[in-house]
This record gives sequence, structure tokens and C-alpha cells, in this order.
Amino acid sequence: MPDSDALPLFVACLPGLEELVAAECEALGAHVGRPPRVGGGGVACRADRAGVVRLNRWLGCASHVLLRVVRFRARHFAEFDKRVRAAPFAEWIEAGACVQVRASSARSKLYHTGGLAERLRNAVDAGVPGLRWLGPDDEDDAAVVVHVRVFEDECFVSIDTTGRPLHARGYRLATAKAPLREDIAHALVLASGWDRSSPFGDPMCGSGTIPIVAARLALGLPPSLPRRFAYEHLVGFAGSGEQEHPAEGASLRIAASDRDAGAIAAAQANAVRAGVGAHIEFEMAPLSAAPIFRGGAATVVSNAPFGLRVGSDPGRLAPVYQTFGARCRYLGPGTAVALLVADRRLGLRTGLPLRSAFLTNHGGLKVRGLVGAVDDALAGSA
Ligand SMILES: C[S@@+](CC[C@H](N)C(=O)[O-])C[C@H]1O[C@@H](n2cnc3c(N)ncnc32)[C@H](O)[C@@H]1O
Repeated sequence: MPDSDALPLFVACLPGLEELVAAECEALGAHVGRPPRVGGGGVACRADRAGVVRLNRWLGCASHVLLRVVRFRARHFAEFDKRVRAAPFAEWIEAGACVQVRASSARSKLYHTGGLAERLRNAVDAGVPGLRWLGPDDEDDAAVVVHVRVFEDECFVSIDTTGRPLHARGYRLATAKAPLREDIAHALVLASGWDRSSPFGDPMCGSGTIPIVAARLALGLPPSLPRRFAYEHLVGFAGSGEQEHPAEGASLRIAASDRDAGAIAAAQANAVRAGVGAHIEFEMAPLSAAPIFRGGAATVVSNAPFGLRVGSDPGRLAPVYQTFGARCRYLGPGTAVALLVADRRLGLRTGLPLRSAFLTNHGGLKVRGLVGAVDDALAGSA
């Protein structure tokens, strides 16, 4: 059995979210080196089995937790075959598990991913008895996916401990226009620096992704609804589950609004499914009259229309960003802002002193999380 105190992991995420993921891993007790080894869409760290379970259950900005099984150089299939057949799959994968293989390759002699996947599958099959094989397009939350990634002739073989990606959280069944991926929403909420108890709002909430993420964070609930994970079919993970102890959240004030009635209906239904319906006040309202702007200082986190995704002309969107900025300034000092934009120039139209917290990719579009605060000089200015 491998050393269970120091499992080598690669926590995969959208490129650009690595620093936030590294901070989350550290807060969840994983050993992240100094400086953290981040980049290429993930964070290298170490944790024991209970730590792997904790990461899977509580990470909000990541997509998968991969267990690194073996790493070697290979320039020919014969070499690859020999090394991959020596990998200790039976130490990790339970007999009879439901399994899939995936292969990717870049800048390497071994570029034929079909050939890599076939050899990997044969090696796993030879090492672990009674496996049930899924096709490349079959879906199963708890299937064990064995990956090989070849980069510049270096082969990394890993086992996914997650299964269904962590950003698919199980409650957003209703969507409005241009729904935001939950991991990016989570990143935006964390980057805003919200203290999880003071007033919080999203005045362009669409299907409610941001307020729902915020409410679950404030209530101490894991990001996803209860689900199955691939680690349930890995050796030594039986009984590693943990109990949830949701906080009270009685004084929580989260305001979510949108001018679109269909969006509000979708957001409400999603919030109920997410178990936070009672903690979010939904209202159909234009930005200029959004409920979050009726109180005092607050944290305002939003994803205004990008223009590109909803097919509008970015120039026509400037008034939306100007109104957003003016309303935030009106809330006064102590107001924190996080805004996701695809065009930085539109972010500038808010007139707020925003800086870039992260740059990532959303459905093929580069998007930036801008954060900042309203200071005394700006407060109330038009
Ligand atoms: C990019 S979508 C938000 C997506 C949302 N974060 C989600 O995950 O579903 C932008 C939203 O802004 C809303 N919106 C655009 N202009 C608005 C305005 N002037 N007042 C209020 N809502 C507005 C749209 O109805 C749309 O739902």
C-alpha cells in the first residue's frame, strides 16, 4: 500500500484560477509547497485519504482532484507499454470498479491518443480484476477515470478521485441567458473578500449562480448537493465520509435581482433545489432599482452581460456598467465589488477603482474577475 500520508495530487482547475485553488487547498489542510506549484490548469499538493475526501467535498474553484500514480519518459509505444504495465493500479482501484481511460498528448513523439488510451486500458485491465469498462462518452458520477497526459515525451498517469466535475453541483437545472460556470462564480465570490455574513447582492443574477454559491458558503454547506465521487471505488477510502454542520445563517442578507422575469423564476427554483431558497431575497428589478442598492454598504458581486455571449454590441452595454458603478459608489465606503467582464474597457466604464483578480476562460471566451472597493473619495459621486 502506498504511503497514505503523502498522496501526490494534482488539483485541476480552469487556467487562471490556480492561485485561488492553492489557497483553498491550503485552508483544507493539504500540503501545498512554498511557493505553491501552480500553473497549467492546476495545483500540485499532497494530502492523506481524509484530505482527498475533504478536497473533493469542499473545493469551490477546482474541477477534479487527480491522484498521481506514475510519471516516466517514453518516446515509443514499447517503452510506454512496459512502464504503464508496471504501474500499481491494483493498489488504488477496487476490483469490479467502473472505469474509463482518457489520453492527451502535446509536443511528443507519442501523439496517437487512441493508441495511448488502448495501451493504458490494457494495462489497467491486466492489473485489476473484474473491471466494468465504460465507453468514452458514457457518464457515471463515480466512474474511476484513469488519465495519461503526455507532454514533451513525459507521461503522467493519474487517477481521477472526483468523477463528475466539481463545478456541476447538481442544483442548477433551470438556466437563463449565458449562465456562469459555478467554479468561476465561486472564484468571484472568494476574490471579493466577502466576510460571509454582511449584506451581499447580485443585481444581474440571471439563473442565480452567484447568490447561490454565496449562500452555501455562508451557511457552511459544501459547494455541491450530496453526490457520489470516484474515490468511493478506490482502495482504502471506505467510510471516509464526513458530516455536514450547516451554520444558522439567520441574519444572512443576500439580495438577488434581474430585470428578466424568466431569469428570476429559474434562479428561485435553483435556490430551492440548492437548499438556500429561504436565505436569498429575489426580486424582478432593473439595475437602477436593484434591492442591494437600497441599503447601506454591501458586497456586490455580478456578471453583467458580456456582449459577445449574448450577441449585443459592447458599446451598447456601456450604460449598464456605468449604472452599476454609480449605484455601487452610492452605497458608500465599505462597499466591495467583484465584477466578471469579457471586455476590460467595459469594466472601466464603472468608474470604480477595479483591479484584475484573475483571468480565465469561460466557454472559449477570456473573462476577467475585477475586484475593488468604494473609498471615501468615490462614495456618492455620480
Ligand atoms: C451574463 S447574464 C448573468 C448570468 C448569471 N450570472 C447566471 O449564472 O445565470 C446577465 C444578466 O443581466 C441581466 N441584465 C442585463 N441588463 C440588466 C439591467 N439593466 N437590469 C437588470 N438586469 C439586467 C440579464 O437579464 C441577464 O440575466
